[in-house]
Amino acid sequence: MKEYTAMSPFGLNNNGTLIKHGGVFYTKMIEIIGTSLNPKAYFEIGTDAGVSLKAMKCASLAVDPQFQLTENVIGSKPSLHMFQIPSDDFFRDHSPIDYLKRPIELAFLDGMHRFEYLLRDFANTERYCRRNSVILLHDCLPTTIEMISRVHTHGAWAGDVWKVLPALRKYRPDLHITYLDCPPTGLVAITNLDPNSLTISDGYFSIAREFMGVDDKPLKEFYSRIALTKSADLQSHEEITKLFWL
Ligand SMILES: C[S@@+](CC[C@H](N)C(=O)[O-])C[C@H]1O[C@@H](n2cnc3c(N)ncnc32)[C@H](O)[C@@H]1O
Repeated sequence: MKEYTAMSPFGLNNNGTLIKHGGVFYTKMIEIIGTSLNPKAYFEIGTDAGVSLKAMKCASLAVDPQFQLTENVIGSKPSLHMFQIPSDDFFRDHSPIDYLKRPIELAFLDGMHRFEYLLRDFANTERYCRRNSVILLHDCLPTTIEMISRVHTHGAWAGDVWKVLPALRKYRPDLHITYLDCPPTGLVAITNLDPNSLTISDGYFSIAREFMGVDDKPLKEFYSRIALTKSADLQSHEEITKLFWL
């Protein structure tokens, strides 16, 4: 596996870009991972037009308060359940296993672009996974400071979901986290999950308080400490199963 340092520790490049993602586009990478791992149960938060959902062939469950489907998302799936409600409401009232009939094996979390929402989505999703399941996160490797505001004003918006990564590294060092250089804002793959872990749910309010007030400076420092994995090198089953094994 080839890795390289995400950016120099010197801060912004000349053009204001924090990091460059030169790899495989994120929806294509999700499709490649899905095809290679062949999960039996897929869960998604934040479906929008349905590009990633369409790519899955297994029993699937999707949650979005406002679906904007433009794709035939059912395709050859044996079952597809869709809940047009916010993810917090979904987890309050439902268990994914009731619909998928087994633990989630692959998940893609791309709902509300705020740190505390993604933290909850991660903790809630992990509860219904098994150890080797893979949870994919979008937008956590933003390329500019402009796109990480908590409120979307204009242009590309990743929000402050990137803070989930330093939070997980600090409070859940047991997780295996792979940072993929997928344009436009990275794709993060997390495995070695612990469905019984209460660390995030029990510590939620203090973790949320700790990271809520964090500004953009720690992002530059965070990038100097992680190594991106080249998504272009993850094209075969052989390469993908070096990192993930359902
Ligand atoms: C950036 S879009 C998702 C894009 C899609 N995953 C893709 O790759 O094309 C974010 C989606 O999150 C949904 N969303 C917003 N708040 C949410 C919430 N609280 N729970 C679940 N989904 C939410 C929005 O309706 C929107 O469809």
